[in-house]
Amino acid sequence: MKYPITVYGDPVLRKRAEKITPESEGLQEIIENMWETMYYADGVGLAAPQAGMSIRMFVIDASSGADDEPELKDFKKVFINPEIIELSGEEWIFNEGCLSLPEIREDVTRPDVVRIKYFDENFVEHNEVYKGFAGRVIQHEYDHLEGILFTDHLSALRKRLLKSKLNDIAHGKVQPHYKIKIPVK
Ligand code: NI
Repeated sequence: MKYPITVYGDPVLRKRAEKITPESEGLQEIIENMWETMYYADGVGLAAPQAGMSIRMFVIDASSGADDEPELKDFKKVFINPEIIELSGEEWIFNEGCLSLPEIREDVTRPDVVRIKYFDENFVEHNEVYKGFAGRVIQHEYDHLEGILFTDHLSALRKRLLKSKLNDIAHGKVQPHYKIKIPVK
């Protein structure tokens, strides 16, 4: 089942998401649905709040980055209750997009290296370091669990220039090829 994707203006994208317990009902099904939703929408990652659920989970398939970074060839991971332990390395600029911000792409500056602790879909704990494209996507998706959108990282001027576009999104005046949940009726 595909979820409609929540977009800018939806309060669920501004909430700090809640932790998941291993006993959480229907978790495997939610994970399956999130993959289906993400692939259908041509996303590289999807966080649960984008599927309307305020829970601490995101999925990432970074294999599209394998042209530049061959080690990403099989990068397909579920992150449950992730905690960013440390951000380090050089800050670098990457042109980001987000399924919840259709038709907007902006250069965002973030640190290169992220150490993250998380549980996978079998509730096995991991503590790993990522950089480059994977580190970038992880930071973007993690932000969603904190109620942060990539546009929050932009300068005041860039934000001002985007204001009417964002307002259009909130009122459903965008037509991505995937289904969205329009926040303001
Ligand atoms: Ni996003």
